[in-house]
Amino acid sequence: MPSITIVGADTVFTLSPGSKLTELEPQQNTLPFGCCSAACGTCAIEVVAGMEHLNSKSEEENDVLDNLGENGPNRRLACQCQVTGDVTLLPLG
Ligand code: FES
Repeated sequence: MPSITIVGADTVFTLSPGSKLTELEPQQNTLPFGCCSAACGTCAIEVVAGMEHLNSKSEEENDVLDNLGENGPNRRLACQCQVTGDVTLLPLG
């Protein structure tokens, strides 16, 4: 089971492999989500560790991150991330 560590949160969360990070919201509301469709940018995160355990960025996600001035090799929209292994995240919002 992938472990999800959110910098600043007191708890390490677990998700089933292939789950989306949006599934964390009902558990603790630790990541800020808005549209959940790669449009608003509310959920921008820095991936501190474990980028290799996330799906690839879509063109749509890259466009939103570009518009936010937050695109880079370790930046993602949490609402677009599926996890296959352990990751550590820092919310940017
Ligand atoms: S919640 Fe709107 S882009 Fe992720």
